[in-house]
Amino acid sequence: RDAKALLEVRDELKLSLAAVTVLRERYLLTDARGRPVESTGELLDRSATFVAQAEEDYRAGSSQRWASRFSALLRGLEFLPNSPTLMNAGTPIGLLSGCVVLPVEDSLRSIFSSLGHSALIHQAGGGTGYAFSHLRPRGDRIVSTGGTASGPLSFLRLYDHASEVIQQGGRRRGAGMAVLDVSHPDIREFLAAKANAPGELSHFNLSVGVSDAFLRAAESGGTQWLVNPRSGRKVARVPAAELLDAMCEAAHRSGDPGLLFLDTINRANPLPRLGRIEATNPCGEVPLLPYESCNLGSLNLARFATGGRVDWDRLGEAAELSVRFLDDVIDVSRYPFPELEQATKAGRKIGLGFMGLAELLASLGIPYDSDDAVRLAGRVASHVRRHAHAASERLARERGPYPAFERGARPRETARRHAQVTSVAPTGTISLIAGTTSGIEPMFAIAYVRTVLGRQLLETNPHFERLARDRGFYTDELAANIARTGGVRDNPNVPADVRAAYPTALEIAPYWHLRMQAAVQRHVDAAVSKTINLPAGATVGDVRSTFLAAWRAKVKGITVYRYGSKEDQVLTLAEPA
Ligand code: CDP
Repeated sequence: RDAKALLEVRDELKLSLAAVTVLRERYLLTDARGRPVESTGELLDRSATFVAQAEEDYRAGSSQRWASRFSALLRGLEFLPNSPTLMNAGTPIGLLSGCVVLPVEDSLRSIFSSLGHSALIHQAGGGTGYAFSHLRPRGDRIVSTGGTASGPLSFLRLYDHASEVIQQGGRRRGAGMAVLDVSHPDIREFLAAKANAPGELSHFNLSVGVSDAFLRAAESGGTQWLVNPRSGRKVARVPAAELLDAMCEAAHRSGDPGLLFLDTINRANPLPRLGRIEATNPCGEVPLLPYESCNLGSLNLARFATGGRVDWDRLGEAAELSVRFLDDVIDVSRYPFPELEQATKAGRKIGLGFMGLAELLASLGIPYDSDDAVRLAGRVASHVRRHAHAASERLARERGPYPAFERGARPRETARRHAQVTSVAPTGTISLIAGTTSGIEPMFAIAYVRTVLGRQLLETNPHFERLARDRGFYTDELAANIARTGGVRDNPNVPADVRAAYPTALEIAPYWHLRMQAAVQRHVDAAVSKTINLPAGATVGDVRSTFLAAWRAKVKGITVYRYGSKEDQVLTLAEPA
């Protein structure tokens, strides 16, 4: 029955089985009996046409021309917007943003108001991030009732449960990010929340908001005060190194928490006069003020390699067209509550990024773990940003700068249409649709089992397979061998240059993962989603040195993942190293 359902999908774009599976089950519009009523190309046209309607407000009669330019960009798989734009464009659920940050103030009214708002965002497939740092700690006084407070963790569990319930009726679950500042008295409970209870808070990523002062103290034997956010009273003084160790132990055990380097983030806050940033969206690539949302979109780098080199001109042009697309998305998106619309339209933040970096590198024969790769990635990020900024400046001249420009931006800042223009998202689903590697991540494996919507699909990297066939070293035995171990680096049956150019995430040393993240971050306005893969045998000390190195490298956040430390990991090897 499933096979038949998949055959019903008209796929003129020749997508992979995994891509068609996801599109069929969650993205394509269906009739009352659940059968798809559009092809994959028509899905992309629907987004392009809907988004281009915004052009009418600026120049009547121009939307058709833009619709066909946007369609060509999407159908060429050169650029894809974040999933909600693909799923929701032209449907009754009109929210097109991938991510939102909501406030959580220290009152039941605020806690439940944001919980209600988050339900509407998750229903649309968007993710939400929150700082729980303002909530009074567990056991603190509640003046109105004379009772004691239940603390941030109990509310976080409530939020998690709400996500669970909403997911049951939806197409995809919107993820959540919960941030707690390192100075919060409940910080230890927060660190233990996932590490000591597998399966708990499964809809949330956890991040600790850390300051430069805390990390300096952790390195030099200093202390960190824990402060009650309600009263401002200092309640305890703890050795900073001990707290950092507790974070590292938890991250070593379960991948959570990550760290958010709040001082680094706020040094780059484009709207410092509107407030201090305390949280990001779920995967960390967009730091936002409360009620802001951000529309993401990613260029597919693999499509910009021609004849063994990067086609810089075409990449620049595509970046400029994509910025216009994302600007239009803000206008045609429908916001389920007014605060979201007001804050989003004040800063007009967008996040143009890219995917397919690892595939681009492999196709150029450049090992991911090399100086050349790091240099090229930095150059790509800087090229995309230069063109994205130029497009944003041009739109500011045509349509006006973002409304909060005068009152919110730093003095002497260039007038752009968007307070923030670039960001590198994980591209978990859109890279699958585009058939390339995700974001700036290396290949997970050359062959692997992917769990898509509960089904297990064996995938071999198509470029590797084509290369191996062209160069005549492909055998069924080789393929079977790769499917077991994942990689080819140590495989004597593969030529040395291919072994070098096709490293997998676990074969790449953490040092190179971090260098790549840092090189790209240097040329990105918002942040970069990246996981630093650690081998199963990595120690807590390895996590600690990675965290500190990340802070020194001036990235905005850090997430580590030790192989096998989560039960429900999405990609698995048949026979892990
Ligand atoms: O590829 P796709 O557009 O589906 O999303 P992504 O690039 O993997 O993730 C971008 C952002 O979408 C994340 O940072 C989250 O804010 C949000 N997201 C989510 O809420 N839930 C998911 N299951 C996936 C993404």
